[in-house]
Amino acid sequence: MDEVIAQVRSKLIDAQNSHDVDQVKAFYLGKNGLITQQLKALKDMDPDQRKSEGVRLNSFKDKVLVEIKLAHDKINRDNQARKIAAMDDMSVDGRRTWYGSAHPVSMALSHLSQFMRMHGFTVVDGPEIENEYYNFDCLNVPDYHPARQDHDTFYFEGIERLLRTHTSPVQIRTLEKQVPPVRICSIGRVYRSDFDATHTPMFHQMEGLVIDRTANFANLKYMLHKMVNDFFADDVSVRFRPAYFPFTEPSAEVDIRRGDEWLEVLGCGMVHPAVLEKCGVDTDVYHGYAFGCGIDRLAMLKYGLPDLRALFENDIDLLDQFRQV
Ligand code: DAH
Repeated sequence: MDEVIAQVRSKLIDAQNSHDVDQVKAFYLGKNGLITQQLKALKDMDPDQRKSEGVRLNSFKDKVLVEIKLAHDKINRDNQARKIAAMDDMSVDGRRTWYGSAHPVSMALSHLSQFMRMHGFTVVDGPEIENEYYNFDCLNVPDYHPARQDHDTFYFEGIERLLRTHTSPVQIRTLEKQVPPVRICSIGRVYRSDFDATHTPMFHQMEGLVIDRTANFANLKYMLHKMVNDFFADDVSVRFRPAYFPFTEPSAEVDIRRGDEWLEVLGCGMVHPAVLEKCGVDTDVYHGYAFGCGIDRLAMLKYGLPDLRALFENDIDLLDQFRQV
C-alpha cells in the first residue's frame, strides 16, 4: 500500500493545476478508478476476506483523499503567491477615500435655522432678484438713502430689477400673503458692491420677523441673546447699540465681544408702523420686531477666520479643517 501511496504522490507532484489534481483523483477514485474497482470486487469475496479487505481499502482510500487535499492546498497557495509576486510594489499605500465636509457657512446656516425652528419660527424663502419696491420703497428706505446708489447696489440694466441688498424684502412678501400673527425667518444670499477683509459682494443673511399683539423689545432682546449664546455655545457679551434703519423704530445694532473688540453682527428693531401699514396690517392691534444678521460674519467669528473672503475661495486645505468642527 505504501508503494501505491508513493505512486500517488509522484503523480501529484507533477500536477500544475487543480484540474491535474482532479485527474489523479479520478484515476484512483473515479467511477472506474483503481480503488473504486477494487471496492466493487468486495461483493464477490467471502465474508471474512471481504471484511479485512474492506478495512484495508477504505483506509487506503482515506489516505489517497488526504494526498489529494494536500495537493489542492498547495496549488491554491502557489496561485496566491504568483498573484502577489505579479503586483508591482506591496509597500505602496492604498488609494485613500476622501470625505467631504460641510462648508462653515452651511454649518452656521443649519445651526441657526434649527435654532429658529425650535423657537417657533417658520423658515420661508424669497427671491434674490428683487425690484426696488420690495427692496427699498416698501421698507421705508428713502430715495436719498446711500444704499440705493449705483455703486452700492447691483442693478440690472433695463429691467428695473436688482440683486437684493438684504433679506428684509422677505418681511414685506410675507406680510402681503399672511395675516398676523406672523413668526418667520428667512435665510439666503444678498449682494452689495463691497470687497474687503470683512465684506464680500455676496454674503448671507438671516431675517427674523415677529408680528402679533404682544411682541415687544424685551422679547427681541431675549431672542437675540439666546440665539447668539446658542450659536457660539458660550456666554457671549452682547451689546445693543442705538442705530437707525428706516424700517424699524426704535432700531439697534447688535455687537458681540471677541477678545477686546466689539463686532457688529446684526441689525434689529421694532417694525416701523409705516411698513406695517403699507402691507395692510392694522397697527392699532399688531406690532412686532424684526432683525437681520450676517451669517458669514457669525461663522467667521465662531471658527476664528481672520478674513471673510477665505469663506468663498474654496481652498480645500482651509475647508478641510472644518471636518471635525
Ligand atoms: N436689513 C438690514 C441690513 O441689511 C438689517 C436689519 C436691520 C434687518 C434691522 C432688520 C431690522 O430686520 O429690523 O443692514
